Amino acid sequence: MLFVWLFCFLLLANHIQAQTYYQDVEPIITSKCSPCHRPGEAAPFTLTSFEDVAKRTNFIKKVVETRYMPPWQADNGYVHFANDRSLTSEEIETIVKWIDKGAREGKKTKNIQSQDVYNVTGYGRSPDLTFTALDTFIVKGNNTERFVEFKIPFELDKPFNVEAIEFYSNNKRLIHHVNYAVQVIADTTIDIHQAPSFANYTDGGKLYNDPYGIFKKDLAYYGGWIPGASFETYPANVGWVLPKRGVILMTVHFSPTPVDEISINGINLFFTDRPIEREVTVVSFGSGGLGENDIRPLFFMIPADKVTEYSLKFTNPKEDLSLLYIWPHMHYIGKSFKAYFTTAAQDTVPLVNIPNWDYRWQEMYRYKTFMKIPKGSTIHMECAYDNTAENPFNPFSPPQPIFSYSNMKSDQEMMTLLLLYIPYRENDEFLTTDNPH
Ligand code: HEC
Repeated sequence: MLFVWLFCFLLLANHIQAQTYYQDVEPIITSKCSPCHRPGEAAPFTLTSFEDVAKRTNFIKKVVETRYMPPWQADNGYVHFANDRSLTSEEIETIVKWIDKGAREGKKTKNIQSQDVYNVTGYGRSPDLTFTALDTFIVKGNNTERFVEFKIPFELDKPFNVEAIEFYSNNKRLIHHVNYAVQVIADTTIDIHQAPSFANYTDGGKLYNDPYGIFKKDLAYYGGWIPGASFETYPANVGWVLPKRGVILMTVHFSPTPVDEISINGINLFFTDRPIEREVTVVSFGSGGLGENDIRPLFFMIPADKVTEYSLKFTNPKEDLSLLYIWPHMHYIGKSFKAYFTTAAQDTVPLVNIPNWDYRWQEMYRYKTFMKIPKGSTIHMECAYDNTAENPFNPFSPPQPIFSYSNMKSDQEMMTLLLLYIPYRENDEFLTTDNPH
């Protein structure tokens, strides 16, 4: 008799404990999966309803347990960034338990349509200005990845203060990642409409023939997009100024596709009337940037059939800096990327660690509070490249020596660190980088 009671009790306990979709799982899916797994975004299917999730439970269990999804490559134990999108151990446990116990739907508690949730996660208002790349680009359906640089010239009545910027595309599924440079062209003798409206570096494009060199003199801003990123914004009084006249150079890394597809891309800008007291600066170190020739060992040539390590050091000589975002960049054979700085007093301060580089998931990492880099500190970059046949992303089979010509070709390599910063002010290190708007 006792056993029967015990059995009934266990059954009941199990029943009470069993998690339901709406109660326990939906909040996690909505905040951690749907930003990419929804219409128009980069992921291959939507995760916006119970049905979407219920029909893929085995698959979902696997990707969350292995931490393959949501993609997040930074080592949180080294630096925990503000834009961390990985699941906590509790969240993983909740999802896995729910699946193991039969993935019950339960009762819809809140009456929030999924769509409403997404509307409030965007910047919350329509853009003040939208720039679109001139040509509707056709991505050829021949299953090759490609790099294309688009030119968007502009001339405005006056400069504008920018408080947020967002990349948009008619079809983000076609895109691996995007970089854009806002170049100032104050000199009216330089024709901003010269040169073709895009340069295709992949399909017969010439390696050394950069048609936009003439525009690359005075950088107002440099940003980017990777799957899952929505918009970039800054804390109060911080931002940048869109000049009256200039050119936007937008490099789009397209994914391979089996059928021809149309791609329309551009950026949305959100302006503010408030003065920008503190203008952000973007600086790039390593290949294609400052200190390129100081990468060690000398000559950035990555031998075949080996894992090779490179390093670069540079000193911040002039002033104390407050760092907001950091963006490490390599290509396919990148293996790991670490950056830190040492102060004049020999303290070591971590900046970012990517122990298992994956070119598909790049990120502008945002510090939780302003990261002070004192004057006289030395910033260190330590990068490893796996140019062996064991690296499934190696673009060459058998492996070949890989070079860097400081351009964007993906079967070459880069070792680049972008820093987005402002000059330091007292107590910056206690300010959060959240956007107050
Ligand atoms: C930053 C964007 C992003 C987020 C956030 C994200 N995904 Fe994905 N997901 C993708 C993309 C892009 C792919 C397709 C590429 C791939 O499979 O690597 C994908 C693929 C998948 C796959 C198929 C994997 C395979 O091997 O084909 C599953 C399952 C999945 N995601 C589940 C999830 C779940 C569950 C979450 C939330 C816990 C999530 N994803 C969060 C972008 C994202």
